[in-house]
Amino acid sequence: MKHALIALLAAACAPLVMPAQAAGQESKEPAWNQADPEMVRLLKIQGDVAKGKVAYEICRGCHKADASGRDNAAYPQLAGQHATVLIKQMVDVRAGRRDSHKMLPFIEKDVVTGDEIAHIAAYLRGLPVPTTNGKGDGKRLELGQHLYDRDCASCHGKQGEGNGEKFYPMVAGQHYTYLYRETLESRDKGRRNSNPEMVKVLKHYVDSDIAAVSDYMSRLTVGAKP
Ligand code: HEC
Ligand code: HEC
Repeated sequence: MKHALIALLAAACAPLVMPAQAAGQESKEPAWNQADPEMVRLLKIQGDVAKGKVAYEICRGCHKADASGRDNAAYPQLAGQHATVLIKQMVDVRAGRRDSHKMLPFIEKDVVTGDEIAHIAAYLRGLPVPTTNGKGDGKRLELGQHLYDRDCASCHGKQGEGNGEKFYPMVAGQHYTYLYRETLESRDKGRRNSNPEMVKVLKHYVDSDIAAVSDYMSRLTVGAKP
C-alpha cells in the first residue's frame, strides 16, 4: 500500500517527492507526506494572486492583514512562506493530519475551496517576509546557533530559507513562540504531520535546547527570495 502511494505521488509531481523512507514509517498513522489527491492536484495549479488576496480575508483576524501572524498567540507568520509548504499545511489541517482546533473551522471545505487554497498560497508567497517577528530572550544564542547549524540547517537552510521543493518550511522571520511550540510538539509527536527524520534529531533535545535553537531561528533573515 505504502509503495503504491509513493509511486502515485512520484508520478504526479516528481520534483516534490520526499525521501522514500519519510512516508510516516515511525507513527502508526502515517501522516508526514501522504499522497492526498487534493494536495497533488493543488500543487499543480498556477495560483492566482488577486483571487488569493480576496480569499485570504477570512484569515486576517488571526494571521493579520500583512500575514505577519501574532507572536503572543503563537499564530504563525505566513508572508513569504513557500507555496508548497502553505498548501501542504492547509490541506493537512483540513484533512485531519495536523490538529488546530482554532484554525480548522476556517479551512474546512465549505468555507475555502481547493482552488482558493492554491490562490492563497500564491498570494502569501509573494508578500515580504516581516522582520518584526517575536524573538526569544537572546541569552543562549551561541548554543542555539551550534544546534541549528549542526542539526537543522541541512533542511531548513543556513539562513532559515527552507526548501519549497521538499516542503521544508522557511523558519526565518517566524515568531519565537510559534517556533518553540512547533519544535516541542514535533519532538513529543503532538504535531502528527512532522517529518520523521526531524523527530529523530529532536529526540535528544531537552526543552532548554529547543528554546535556544528557536531563539536563534527567530533571528534569521532571508534576503531576496530564491
Ligand atoms: C482562529 C485563528 C485562525 C484563523 C482564522 C486561521 N488560522 Fe491559520 N493557523 C492558526 C493557528 C493557531 C495555526 C498554528 C496551528 C498549530 O499550532 O499547529 C495556524 C497555522 C496555519 C498555517 C501553517 C503555517 C506553518 O508555518 O506551518 C497556514 C498555512 C495557515 N494557518 C493558513 C491559514 C489560512 C489561509 C487561513 C484562512 C483561510 C487561516 N489560516 C485562518 C490560526 C488561525
Ligand atoms: C530532515 C529534514 C529536517 C530536519 C533535519 C529538521 N527539520 Fe524541521 N521540518 C522539516 C519539515 C519537512 C517540516 C514540515 C513538516 C510538516 O509538513 O508538517 C519541518 C517543520 C519544522 C518547524 C515548523 C515550521 C512551521 O512553519 O510550521 C519547526 C519550528 C522546525 N521544523 C524546527 C526544526 C529544528 C529546530 C530542527 C533542528 C533541531 C529541524 N527542524 C530539523 C524538516 C526538517
